Amino acid sequence: MKLIIISISILFSTISGFAQNRTISNQTNQNNMTTTANFIFPELPYAYDALEPYIDKMTMEIHYSKHFKAYFDNFLKSISGTELEKSDIKTIFSNISKSPVAVRNNSGGYYNHKLFWESMTPNFKDASGPILDAIVKEFGSMENFKNQFEEAAKTRFGSGWAWLCIDANHKLFISSTPNQDNPLMDVADKKGTPLLTLDVWEHAYYLKYQNRRPEYISSFWHVVNWEMVNKRFLDAIK
Ligand SMILES: [Fe+2]
Repeated sequence: MKLIIISISILFSTISGFAQNRTISNQTNQNNMTTTANFIFPELPYAYDALEPYIDKMTMEIHYSKHFKAYFDNFLKSISGTELEKSDIKTIFSNISKSPVAVRNNSGGYYNHKLFWESMTPNFKDASGPILDAIVKEFGSMENFKNQFEEAAKTRFGSGWAWLCIDANHKLFISSTPNQDNPLMDVADKKGTPLLTLDVWEHAYYLKYQNRRPEYISSFWHVVNWEMVNKRFLDAIK
């Protein structure tokens, strides 16, 4: 009888220890996930067909679920096991010239697309408030701003991005960057905080617009999320 009681006691102790180890193991995994969750794959803020007819459903689906996902996965892979894993994206950009090209391309691919998705909305409203005032002050009118932004987007040779940014002196400027570079990177010709961006890689428009990049660019104005641009502007001048 005594032997049976001892055996049962050992069994409970083993089960209890196993359960405890499993709990510790789960907590460790959760902590590890939290550490690497500096970088989370963001949800698209609208349905794939929400920006029709200006951006078609198939382009949106492939762009988000294939191109963007690949940049995100390759970005995590490129920083895996390095100090950058614990860093934040702006710090990574501020020293990007010292990183391997895979980090530069994929960190930009991650950040730029995230900003791009959030720069658009199916519920378009004209620009208003402080961002409109700042655009009129800097460029003379909204029409002048759009023309200059379109010019930057049209004349970006090959693949890249057009930007509306604000510099350290709170002055707005328009620029464009090649490949997946952006104005937060130390390699950028003009550095600043991005407020609005447009992807002018062919994968962003070719299915619907083929070689008609200017048509794609002018369609963009129907889906710009000016409320978001205004919010970014206000955050930048705080
Ligand atoms: Fe893209």
